[in-house]
Amino acid sequence: MTPFEALGGEPRVRALVERFYDLMDLEPGFAPLRELHPSVLEGSRDKLFWYLCGWLGGPQHYVQRFGHPRLRARHLPFSIGIRERDLWLACMHRALREVGVEAGLADALQESFFNTADWMRNREEP
Ligand code: HEM
Repeated sequence: MTPFEALGGEPRVRALVERFYDLMDLEPGFAPLRELHPSVLEGSRDKLFWYLCGWLGGPQHYVQRFGHPRLRARHLPFSIGIRERDLWLACMHRALREVGVEAGLADALQESFFNTADWMRNREEP
């Protein structure tokens, strides 16, 4: 079974992404992360949803629309250090918990998210 299936398919991935961006939008602690994003988050929500479906082993919606993700290159316009990485991961950790992803699966996903988020760092300073 793929992580995509374990999570519960598209409706659950969508719920996770919605919660992730709702938290980013609402929680003052995530403001430095929110400020990097466009004022309207609908495009970001769609893109992360499409991307995560494929990243989790499900349908390749993102690649079908945009081709190779080139994720690190796409993040170069944003200054990402340890601070932004850890805020992103904290926001995702809360979203996983709040949409009720089972603890074992959430821990495994969090570890993979760490690797992807750490790879996105493009600033030396924290
Ligand atoms: C390390 C901390 C991260 C920061 C600060 C960050 C920030 C951002 C920002 C500001 C955007 C632009 C939003 C937009 O154009 O609507 C973006 C786009 C995106 N991010 Fe991240 N991100 C991080 C990590 C990640 C991770 C770990 C993933 C995937 C697991 C991810 C997936 C994406 C995707 C798929 C897009 C859309 C790319 C596009 O097609 O333009 N990001 N990110």
